[in-house]
Amino acid sequence: MGYTLGVGRVIAVANQKGGVGKTTTVINLGAALAERGHQVLLIDFDPQAALTAGFGLDPYHLSPTTYSFLMKDGVQLRNIIRKLNENLWIAPAGVDLAAVDYVLTKFQDRNFRLRNRIAPGRDQLDFILIDTPPSLGLITTNALVAADELLIPVQCHYLAMRGVRALLETVWLVHDRLHPNLTLLGLLPTILQPDSRHSQEVVRELRSVFSKRVFDTVIEEDEALAMAPAARMSVLDFKPESKAAENYRRLAEEVSVGRA
Ligand SMILES: Nc1ncnc2c1ncn2[C@@H]1O[C@H](COP(=O)(O)OP(=O)(O)OP(=O)(O)O)[C@@H](O)[C@H]1O
Ligand SMILES: [Mg+2]
Repeated sequence: MGYTLGVGRVIAVANQKGGVGKTTTVINLGAALAERGHQVLLIDFDPQAALTAGFGLDPYHLSPTTYSFLMKDGVQLRNIIRKLNENLWIAPAGVDLAAVDYVLTKFQDRNFRLRNRIAPGRDQLDFILIDTPPSLGLITTNALVAADELLIPVQCHYLAMRGVRALLETVWLVHDRLHPNLTLLGLLPTILQPDSRHSQEVVRELRSVFSKRVFDTVIEEDEALAMAPAARMSVLDFKPESKAAENYRRLAEEVSVGRA
C-alpha cells in the first residue's frame, strides 16, 4: 500500500472515550509528518481546545477560529490558520465551538459543513489531521464526514477497549448513511505500560480481534508527552530523543508510507 504526495489526505482522530491520546496523537503525529517534509495542517475541532492550548494559543481570546470557519460564509481556511513551523499549521479552536452541536441542528447541510468548507485548498496540503471531542455528536460526525480516513487511539486498558465496538458501530452508520468512502486507517494502541501484563494483554487482544486494522506502532506511556504541551511544543521538539518521539516518528512512517 503506497500513497502519493500532495493529495491532501484528511485524517480524523476520534474516540468517544476521553483521555485516550487523541489530542496527543494529532500534535505529535502531525509534528512527525511535518518533520518528514510533508505539509501538515492540524484542525482543532474540540471545544476543549487542548490542541490549540498545547501550542500556546489562548482559546478564550482568539478570532477567527474553527467555529467562524464553519459557520460564516466569508471565512476561509487561510483566514484562520497559523504557522507553527516550516511545514506545520494549525486551525485553532475557541471556546465558542461548544455551541456548534446546538447551532448546526437547524442547517440542512449540518453533517457536511466541515467537508464542504475544507474542500477548496485541501489539495495544497499533504495531510490534514482533525482532533475531535470525546463524544459522538455533530462535531465528531462532521469530522468523520470531512475525513478520508479515521485513526482511533485506544488506550491499552480493558475498559477502553470495550468502547471500540460502540465507536465502530457509529462509524459504520456514518459510512453507510453519509460517507461510503470513509476508511479505517487504523486502531492505535496508546499509553502502553511496557511492564504491565494487563497492558500487553490488551494489545494482544486488540490484534486478535481487529488484526490488520491495528497499527504495528504502539505508543508507550512516556511523561514527556504530558509535559510537552506545557512547554507549548510537540514532544519531537521538547524531547527529540525520547521514547515518545521515536514512537510517533514510527507512526508517521506507517501513515505516510503505508503498512507492509
Ligand atoms: N503515551 C502517553 N504517555 C503518557 N501520557 C500520555 C500519553 N498519551 C497521552 N497522555 C496524557 O494523557 C492525557 C490525555 O491525553 P489526550 O489529551 O491526548 O487525550 P484525549 O483523548 O485527547 O482526551 P479528550 O478526550 O479529553 O480530548 C494528557 O494529559 C496527555 O498528556
Ligand atoms: Mg483531546
